[in-house]
Amino acid sequence: MPHLFSPLTIKDITLRNRIGVSPMCQYSAEDGMPNDWHFVHLGSRAVGGAGLVIVEATAVEPRGRISPEDLGIYTDQHIEPFKRITAFLKEHGAVPGIQLAHAGRKASTYSPWKEKEAPAAGVPNDQGGWDVVGPSAIPFNEGYKEPKELSVEEIKEIQENFRQATIRAREAGFEWMEFHGAHGYLAHSFYSPLSNKRTDEYGGSFDNRIRFVLETVRVMRQEWPENLPFTVRISSTDWVDDGWTLEESIELSKRLKQEGVDLIDCSSGGNLPKAPIPVGAGYQNLFAEKIRHQADIATAAVGMITQGMQADEIIRNERADLVLLARELLRDPYWPLRAAETVHKKNELHIPPQYERGW
Ligand SMILES: Cc1cc2nc3c(=O)[nH]c(=O)nc-3n(C[C@H](O)[C@H](O)[C@H](O)COP(=O)(O)O)c2cc1C
Repeated sequence: MPHLFSPLTIKDITLRNRIGVSPMCQYSAEDGMPNDWHFVHLGSRAVGGAGLVIVEATAVEPRGRISPEDLGIYTDQHIEPFKRITAFLKEHGAVPGIQLAHAGRKASTYSPWKEKEAPAAGVPNDQGGWDVVGPSAIPFNEGYKEPKELSVEEIKEIQENFRQATIRAREAGFEWMEFHGAHGYLAHSFYSPLSNKRTDEYGGSFDNRIRFVLETVRVMRQEWPENLPFTVRISSTDWVDDGWTLEESIELSKRLKQEGVDLIDCSSGGNLPKAPIPVGAGYQNLFAEKIRHQADIATAAVGMITQGMQADEIIRNERADLVLLARELLRDPYWPLRAAETVHKKNELHIPPQYERGW
């Protein structure tokens, strides 16, 4: 029976345990370039024992960044600094993953600590912001910019940028791909009926709303080595009756599996400013469990997983194949080492020799 510290093999990649660092924006880049902050932040979590470290949402074009301080991989110059990070992660036993993203109508916003002093969410163009795009001209919320409705030609250009970013990610040494299809960003805003009011082949019916995601994943999958895991983060529900539903997520996951997707990372929400989300311990685990069993695909559970026993239970009872932690790993990069003690798997840990005397 698998447990939190059993290895997980997908294609040619084996994670040393079932603990992954969920992608987390650091709002610390200049022109999308990773720097020492990213190196130390990500590197620490590899040293801390995680099996998988997924780099934050990394934009495939400059206007696809959430804030001007987001990471990007939209030129060949971005490859080298990422290489330094992936090499270190691998050296310390973690698989390096990257989340490729386009923020769509939620782009050009202030980073959280700048937002506190900002008059509106959107960064004006004369202060480093830019015009935003989406499936329809519906802003996310008050203070956000109104997106320009993308033409079919512009959709294809964005998909081409995803393709090129995928090639760069491979060259940078990443071994785990995550397509960001969640949290109200471009892909989610296409599949959710709340933000997509198009009348062409990219809007309306379920098949039309998921077209952008399926096509983009197809383009990326062709460039991503067959033997490496390709995963997709989705928002499993919009949490409102007239929004995207779990049933639709299950169907989308089946279609993604046919496109060669190996795992679905089951998040939720983000496309509505005030959705009634019942945030609490493991509040999204049910999505990972249902999608895993009903779409017959590997899943990652994420959201308010903070305890070793809680994470172990998810794996043991086959609710998900992997757990991803975000905020708990900000509080403690050594969480995997501590969790191993609480679930009595201390012997299966790899403590860096430099730190052995501390354990
Ligand atoms: C600082 C911070 C930055 C985040 N950035 C991203 C991101 O880049 N991409 C993403 O999909 N989710 C992002 N998230 C969401 C997390 O990956 C995770 O899904 C969420 O925080 C729930 O997990 P937790 O309860 O363990 O924090 C971010 C969360 C935090 C706290």
